[in-house]
Amino acid sequence: MKPILFAANWKLNKTPTETKTFFTDFISKCPQDLQNKICFFVPATSLETTSNSLKDSDIQWGSQNCYSKISGAFTGEISAGVMKELGATHILIGHSERRQLFHENNDEIAGKGHLIQSLSLTPVLCIGETLEQRDRNLTLGICEDQLRTFIEQINPAQPWVIAYEPVWAIGTGRVATSNQVKEVHDFIRNFLIQELGTEVAQRICILYGGSVKPDNAKELLQLENVNGFLVGGASLEVDSFLKICLS
Ligand code: 13P
Repeated sequence: MKPILFAANWKLNKTPTETKTFFTDFISKCPQDLQNKICFFVPATSLETTSNSLKDSDIQWGSQNCYSKISGAFTGEISAGVMKELGATHILIGHSERRQLFHENNDEIAGKGHLIQSLSLTPVLCIGETLEQRDRNLTLGICEDQLRTFIEQINPAQPWVIAYEPVWAIGTGRVATSNQVKEVHDFIRNFLIQELGTEVAQRICILYGGSVKPDNAKELLQLENVNGFLVGGASLEVDSFLKICLS
């Protein structure tokens, strides 16, 4: 059985009050045995509410970013140490919006991955190409570069997750085709096997993200090297996210 994870990235959406309402509804509808396969990445302002809402469930959660140091004079940043104290399990890093809008690079992201693992939390690394890079046939090389810098700085045998999110499929309604997803996910798995050996490589979840909806999730999940999803827009409604998790 391949490992499975369904992750939600709420981005800059939902107030603490909306967060609480969402989780009350979600927990009442989510089958118990599915809970430990689900992870929510909520905005920083909803972290404490999320911690309180999910503490009696098996649902996992974390922040959408963290800083590469635990504390100090870093105005406005988020500490992975605080995530740990609040009971988070995962931290999302390297999202394309962080790379593009906030100019994060592979090295900086790998440093965050190292710190997150040192706290026994699980980093979820986002990778993926822009449309321009895809058109220039650079997709696989870009993904390889993003992965290689990361595995050089983390302990690849400790838990971590990859989310392949082609930038052109994020929030556009333009989901990658099964063939496009298969090509990249197979490439990533083979790269991991070659670099880390089969046993470690098969434990690593490779999620797909980019316009995942209830009506396209089932087909993509059937691909051998798709271990679940990282869902943006469709994770904001209880019923649509739950449908994806039940695919
Ligand atoms: P959408 O599902 O809204 O395309 O967002 C994907 C994403 O960026 C998840 O991190």
